[in-house]
Amino acid sequence: MAITRRQFLKTAIGAGVALQVPGVLLHPFSARPATGPIREFRFSASRAKVNLGRGPDFVAWTYNGRVPGPEIRVKEGETIRVFLKNLLPQETTIHWHGLPIVNAMDGVPGVTQAAVPPGESFVYEFKARPAGTFLYHSHVEYQLDQGLYGPLIIEPAHDPGNFDREYTLMLEDWVMKDGGGVAATRRRSPMGRGMMGRRGFANKGGPLLEPVYDGFAVNGKLYPEIEPLMVKTGERIKLRLINPSSSTIYTLRLAGHALTITHVDGNPVKPLRTDVLRIGIGERYDVEFKADNPGYWLLSAMERGGGEGQLRIPVRYKGSQPTEPVPPVFRGPLRFASYADLRGKLPDESPSMGKVDRAFRQILSGGMHSPYWTINGRVYPNAERLVVKEGDRVRIKYWNRSMMPHPMHLHGHFFRLVNPAIPPDTWVLKDTVIVDSMQGMEIEFVADNRGKWFHHCHNLYHMVAGMANTVVYA
Ligand code: C2O
Ligand code: CU
Repeated sequence: MAITRRQFLKTAIGAGVALQVPGVLLHPFSARPATGPIREFRFSASRAKVNLGRGPDFVAWTYNGRVPGPEIRVKEGETIRVFLKNLLPQETTIHWHGLPIVNAMDGVPGVTQAAVPPGESFVYEFKARPAGTFLYHSHVEYQLDQGLYGPLIIEPAHDPGNFDREYTLMLEDWVMKDGGGVAATRRRSPMGRGMMGRRGFANKGGPLLEPVYDGFAVNGKLYPEIEPLMVKTGERIKLRLINPSSSTIYTLRLAGHALTITHVDGNPVKPLRTDVLRIGIGERYDVEFKADNPGYWLLSAMERGGGEGQLRIPVRYKGSQPTEPVPPVFRGPLRFASYADLRGKLPDESPSMGKVDRAFRQILSGGMHSPYWTINGRVYPNAERLVVKEGDRVRIKYWNRSMMPHPMHLHGHFFRLVNPAIPPDTWVLKDTVIVDSMQGMEIEFVADNRGKWFHHCHNLYHMVAGMANTVVYA
C-alpha cells in the first residue's frame, strides 16, 4: 500500500510511541481485527555518512541515518506499524525476517509487493508474534550489505525470563571504504579461498561476487571502540545474537565462560550449554551466561584470522581493571553446539503430525564455473515454484553440491529440523538453516500461512545470483 506524502504526514507520529487503541481496529490487509496496542515507528531509508568508531567515514544506506537501524522492541500481541519513507536513489522494501506474518506485509519485491520507488512511502503493519529475537532488512538487491537492517525484539507478554541484564548484538560485516554492496571493489573467489582481484567475473551486469570485508562490527562499532558489555558478579546475562551479515558465518566463544543456548531463531529450546557457537547468516541465538568469573573478557569470532577487522566484543565485570581483555582460545576439549544437539520446546500441535504430504528435493549448486548460484539447476526468477496446499505437512530435502555453506531461509513459516534420532515433538523450530558443503539437511513445515513465499540462500551474493525460489499455495 503506497501512501501519499500527505497521508504519511497525517498519520505519522513519533517513532516508538505506543498508541492505546480502545476497542477493535480493522486490520487493513487480512481483515482480521487487530486488538491491543499499536506501536508505530517512522523509518526513512536514506544514504548517510557513518563511521564504525575506527577507520574512514563512508556512505552507508541506512534507516534513520544510522547503522544498524533503530531497534524495534515491542510486546507479543502488539501490532507493529512502520511508516517507511524511501529517500534512497533506488526502490526499496523491508522484510521482517523470521516472523510468520500476513503475506502482503512480507516485503519481497515482485513476490509480495511492488518495491517502493524513490520518494514514495509504504506502511507495514503486522502482529508482533511470537515472542523472540528477529531482524528486519531490505529485500532489494545488495541493499542489506550497505546497511539496511536492524534488530526486531518481541518480548513475551507475561514471563520476561530469568535474567538480570540483556544485550542485543548485531554481528555485521562491512567494507569500510564504501559500505560494500555494489561499490566494493575487492571480491572473493567463488571457491571461498583467495581473492579475485578487482574485477571478479567479467560479465558486465551479472551478479557480484562477495566483497572482501575489512570491518566486523557489533552494533555499528569496531573493537576497541565498541562499548564493553558491563556485567556484575552474580548476574545472569542474556545475549541476543543476531547475524545480519551479508556473507559471513561466525564461530563464537566467550573467554572464561560457557554459554547456555535458550532460543534459536526466536523459538525456545531446551537449555544447551556450549563453549562454541556457530551462527549463520540470518540466524539468531539467545544465550545466557552466569557472571561468575570476574575479569575483562572477549567474546570473539574464530574465523578471519585475528586481523584488525575481526569481530570482538569486550565483556567487563564491574570493578575489573581496564587492562587488555582476555581473548577466547579455540583449542582444547571444547563443546561445539550443533543442530543435532538442540531440542525444541514447543510441541507440535498440528493434526497432520506424523505424516508427510509433500516432499521436495533441493540441490544447491553453483559458484564454480559460473557467476550464478542455483537450486535444482535453476536461477531465480527462472525458478521452480514449490506448490503446497493449506494444511500440508511439507518436507524439503537439501543437498549442497557446492563448496560453500548455504544458510537457507523460508519466509512466512517456521520449520523443524528433521532428526530421526529424536521424537518429532522435540525437533527444533527455526527459519534459517545452514546447509554445509557436500552435506544434506532436511526440514519440515506445516503449510499454515497462505501466500507466495520467498525461499532462498541468505548469503546475499548467492541470493541475488539466483539461489532462490518460491513456495506457493495451490
Ligand atoms: Cu532475511 Cu528473504 O530474508
Ligand atoms: Cu548460499
